[in-house]
Amino acid sequence: MSVLLKNGLVVTSTGSSVADVYIEGETITAVGSGLATKADETVDATGKYILPGAIDPHTHIDMPFMGTTSSDDWKTGSIAAACGGTTCIIDFNLQGKGETLRDAVDKQRAKADGKTAVDYSIHPGVTDARPDVIDEVKKAIHEYGTPSFKVFLFYDFRVDDYALIRLLEETKTHGGLVQVHAESFDIIRRLNEQIASTGKMGPMQHALAHAAIAEEQAVERCVSAVELTGSRIYVVHLSSSRGLWRIKQARDKGLRVHAETCPQYLTLTEQHYDEPDWNGAKYVMSPPLRPQESLDELWLGLRDGDVQTVGTDHCPFNFKGQKDMNGKNDYKAIPNGAPGIETMLMLLHTEGVVKGRITKERMVDVLSTSTARMFGLASKGAVAPGKDADIVVFDPKRKFTITQKKLHMNVDYTPWEGWEMTGMPEIVYSRGRKVAQWSGDQMKFVGEAGKGKFVKRVPLAAF
Ligand code: URP
Ligand code: ZN
Ligand code: ZN
Repeated sequence: MSVLLKNGLVVTSTGSSVADVYIEGETITAVGSGLATKADETVDATGKYILPGAIDPHTHIDMPFMGTTSSDDWKTGSIAAACGGTTCIIDFNLQGKGETLRDAVDKQRAKADGKTAVDYSIHPGVTDARPDVIDEVKKAIHEYGTPSFKVFLFYDFRVDDYALIRLLEETKTHGGLVQVHAESFDIIRRLNEQIASTGKMGPMQHALAHAAIAEEQAVERCVSAVELTGSRIYVVHLSSSRGLWRIKQARDKGLRVHAETCPQYLTLTEQHYDEPDWNGAKYVMSPPLRPQESLDELWLGLRDGDVQTVGTDHCPFNFKGQKDMNGKNDYKAIPNGAPGIETMLMLLHTEGVVKGRITKERMVDVLSTSTARMFGLASKGAVAPGKDADIVVFDPKRKFTITQKKLHMNVDYTPWEGWEMTGMPEIVYSRGRKVAQWSGDQMKFVGEAGKGKFVKRVPLAAF
């Protein structure tokens, strides 16, 4: 099967130009103006952008967590991703006590293979940094195709600084990357104790306990560990201006400290925790939403390159039946996380590009090109000959009002209900297969669940 996309504006991380794109089978084979090639299907993309499919480097699909399981499985989550213009997902799977990294990868593969509608990979999450697990890092990078590793400095399964340092040393040697959930367990623990004495236990207290200083202190620990080892690190879901400030300082010193932020930290403020009827529980996530000042700073960080990628941290729990299971009288028992796998591209375009905070080229960079480079997805991240035909034909003028009813995630709310979007996907291709298409007034899934595949990632560039 061949497809010719005619006269679209091909957007890359460095520039945009009107061109045709030729897809043969699963691969882009030519990009140029006036391609005379005949194709099985020709699409007039005049007035549309031709973007590389977004890569979401931060999802939690079908994840057991805080007494329940995130509500999207690989079928529903990946269909939602496709409908939002995301053609590759890198999901986390945590190593259980006594398990190996191979176990962590294989267990999630067993859930995803045959179900996922788009391509995917796994970041093994290290919770038990035994010497044999540190030794296994090399194999994960060179044999399993999973060169990035997640650790948490918060939650029960957090690691200590010794484990972090050992992982940084090992990934430096073999071409890997450590990703960190940077929040200080001890600061939050103490703030939780102080809050308990006030008797107030609602969603806003979650934000007060997970204060920005807890993120800042944890980022500092990461920076010190990088300085000590000469390795590099990636801070996931950066939420605050305080954390960003530390990252900028480190980068100015030449340290390789990278950061990801998420649409929620760019668009929603902590005021949501005060919504009536316990609605604030919908936004209980770690780290929490912040004041407007942090949102403004994060946009600048994204524009200026101090933040390199955007991921969703998609971790959906139903408002009714999951968020309220145990947490009605104790914010600490509200499952942490929110849905977002489907809304990343539309939000970045509407709130970022249309509002002039970032260029469309920067949007492509932080949603795809830089992400592919950061995580060793050699065949993805650009509309260029030789790359996988993961493509979004994007209508920059199309209007869409976000509402859960027209989204595909298996969850009963979206944090952006009622938000007006400008710019939506028109057609989404995953390795040359059409998987989603605009239809009437919403995106429709037209692919086949199970056709996505596990992508073996390559070791990251040597130091
Ligand atoms: O609240 C969140 N972010 N839930 C998912 C787990 C994590 O910390 O990333
Ligand atoms: Zn996290
Ligand atoms: Zn997460």
